[in-house]
Amino acid sequence: MVFSAWPYINSEPHLGTLLHLISADYYARFLRIMGEEVVSVSGSDEHGTPIEVEAIKQGKNPKDLTDEMHSRVLEILRSFSVELDNYTRTENEVHKEFVRNFYLQLEKNGYVFKQTTVQLYCEKDRIFLPDRFVIGKCPYCGYERARGDQCENCGRLLEPTLLVEPRCAICGERPVKKETFHWFFDLPKLTDEITRYVETLDENVKGYLRNMLEEGLRPRSITRDNKWGIPAPFAGSEGKTIYVWMEAVLGYLSGVIELEKKKGEKLFEKFWMDPDTKSIYFIGKDNIPFHAIILPALLIASRRGYNLPKKISSTEFILFGQMKFSKSQHVGVWASDALGIADGEYWRYVILSLRPERGDTSFSWQEFDKLVNSDLNDKVGNYAHRVLTFVKDRFNGSVPENLKPSEEDRAFSEAIMKLEEEFIRLNYDLRIKDAARKFVEASELGNHYLSSQQPWNLYKSDKERASSVLYTSVQSLAHIAFMMYPVAPRRSQKLATMLGIASIEKPNRWEIVRPGTKIERVEPLFQKINIKY
Ligand code: MF3
Ligand code: ZN
Repeated sequence: MVFSAWPYINSEPHLGTLLHLISADYYARFLRIMGEEVVSVSGSDEHGTPIEVEAIKQGKNPKDLTDEMHSRVLEILRSFSVELDNYTRTENEVHKEFVRNFYLQLEKNGYVFKQTTVQLYCEKDRIFLPDRFVIGKCPYCGYERARGDQCENCGRLLEPTLLVEPRCAICGERPVKKETFHWFFDLPKLTDEITRYVETLDENVKGYLRNMLEEGLRPRSITRDNKWGIPAPFAGSEGKTIYVWMEAVLGYLSGVIELEKKKGEKLFEKFWMDPDTKSIYFIGKDNIPFHAIILPALLIASRRGYNLPKKISSTEFILFGQMKFSKSQHVGVWASDALGIADGEYWRYVILSLRPERGDTSFSWQEFDKLVNSDLNDKVGNYAHRVLTFVKDRFNGSVPENLKPSEEDRAFSEAIMKLEEEFIRLNYDLRIKDAARKFVEASELGNHYLSSQQPWNLYKSDKERASSVLYTSVQSLAHIAFMMYPVAPRRSQKLATMLGIASIEKPNRWEIVRPGTKIERVEPLFQKINIKY
């Protein structure tokens, strides 16, 4: 199961938002060409206060806003060749029903209790202020602009009432405390099981959770006094909705159920209940507590035997120069602007090459120039073009035979195979950033090989040697197409088609391009993009 965090759709996605979706799409494609069975799911996270606040600001009904944004996002994802099996939304009926039943089950299992609480209330706006409706100082690290649900600076999960000097996010006034009642998830009851589970996760994820676990798990409220959201299912909970995070993470399950219904194929049991299923979640590091504690705790509490997350691939931030992408400060690159500059598949390569796996990375137009013009165009595009036009012009458009193989040919082929092995190993190790550039490295070797063998001269003096050089280069292109597939699927298929390979998606990496294969149409794979910076 391959999953990406579900983006909030209160604003147009930027490169940072696309990172997880592109990573998931990349990985699902990689696994598929390795012959694995995969299901990939994500969607729009439509509930929650960021959207409600945005709708209030725009004077819109939240549902109208999310309808609009969801179709925008679908369009954007198509342009970036992101094709998950199910890219859905949390307003879908299957999800809403699944979530309501899920919580009734949790209540039956003894993990839900109701309690009177004191909440922040804005007397001016006349609403309770949950989560991001309140901003204030973090009680742990002192960060000034912590939000009611989580501190962006130290990553701790918060409650609005914990904030020092809280302010209403809509009007900026200081809220008052007012009594209400809510349903809570009894997280402390699961402390032992969660502690054991967290031990199975990677070091960087564990590191992020250490403080939370040491301070002890606290009950987490399930309900909110908001109108926008999934109605809470408990007796006496009319008028309350479920906290966005407590339902969105269940979309990983409901999204597979919805897909099963759409396809009329048994998927849910096979993927979610079989202990041999592997799962991977691509998320930003601030999402770690929800995926590594809340989601597994919910899954355990259901006592249904659902698979817990096996791998959580969390990334740091892609900075814009030195600054964090920020909507409010207009720092960053937004999807539609990006698409106006270059095709989505060029951006996939840029984003994957900048994937912040170990620390923050930074985007710059210089870097973009290098990745697009020097890597994609000069290395990959030119290599493919040199080989294919040579076959077309000198060998009558027919892949020549390997008439006179040499030591150099063998060394080159072996180097390509070695890169392909690295590509596979790095991907299984989740080192996607390095894996994603192997097709570029292979093309670079290809260009060197051509320059050293000089088939244009051999063609005159020793045509049999020229045949072998071109035969060998053509084979390398099939491997380049294979390694390029998860990065730039449409381009990869285009290259494969030129090589007479009907579908790059069928695992065919050991298959060679037979001599005699017709190479009739040669088209450029990439173009230079002129950019000033
Ligand atoms: N919407 C959240 C964010 O953008 C991510 C939600 S992931 C989910 O930070 F699984 F809970 F949906
Ligand atoms: Zn903090």
